[in-house]
Amino acid sequence: MRGKKNKFAENLLRDNVIEPGKTGYKTLQGKWASDFFRNTQPITLELACGWGEYTLGLSRLFNDRNFIGVDIKGDRLWKGSGIALEEDLKNAAFLRTQIEHLMDFFGPGEVSEIWLMFPDPRPKKRDAKRRITHSRFLDVYKQIISPGGLVRLKTDNTGLFEYSLEVLQAREDICALEYSFDLYSSDYSADCYDIVTKYEKKFREAGEVIKYLQFRYIN
Ligand SMILES: C[S@@+](CC[C@H](N)C(=O)[O-])C[C@H]1O[C@@H](n2cnc3c(N)ncnc32)[C@H](O)[C@@H]1O
Repeated sequence: MRGKKNKFAENLLRDNVIEPGKTGYKTLQGKWASDFFRNTQPITLELACGWGEYTLGLSRLFNDRNFIGVDIKGDRLWKGSGIALEEDLKNAAFLRTQIEHLMDFFGPGEVSEIWLMFPDPRPKKRDAKRRITHSRFLDVYKQIISPGGLVRLKTDNTGLFEYSLEVLQAREDICALEYSFDLYSSDYSADCYDIVTKYEKKFREAGEVIKYLQFRYIN
């Protein structure tokens, strides 16, 4: 088992990890197609990606699209980026930043789809602003997603799910909001491609029912 220090040292050498301290960090805004992927394939973000199961799973399934896992924890990104390198997944990358700062990394409309993957529920009222479905985060996603782009959320947490629905329903710039309190008994299940993240596995084993929602912005 490698320690965090070794993982961070390896991340520094990996071209598929974009993180503070590296040349190019924060210079990719509006330039992912020309300067990073070197193609104009649509970009999907997996936010709060942890170990990056969706970034990996989707990049295996769709080689005509690009995928970027975003998380603040470098040791988790180390895992996903290592697998992407082993499998030569050239359409997968990992960005280490706080989701709050996505606008520093992506230009208007540069992203075509966003997955919010089992984000921390932050149940305390005083932490509502830190939930990644708080309106201040929704304003960020709106800036970087292309017209008609889909935002999707998977979570086990009923409190976060209900909160997210309330926030979305109260906004006037959201359309096509669809959801299920039981993803795997719904038609949306097929849209999730049978990819199961680490946290999802843990919660399902504990008997939690997975919830799902998706929406678009009115542009
Ligand atoms: C509950 S874990 C879920 C990880 C993974 N998506 C899964 O389902 O296994 C939440 C993840 O969100 C990340 N995270 C929390 N707040 C964040 C923020 N503001 N910016 C970036 N990452 C964040 C954490 O580091 C953690 O990896």
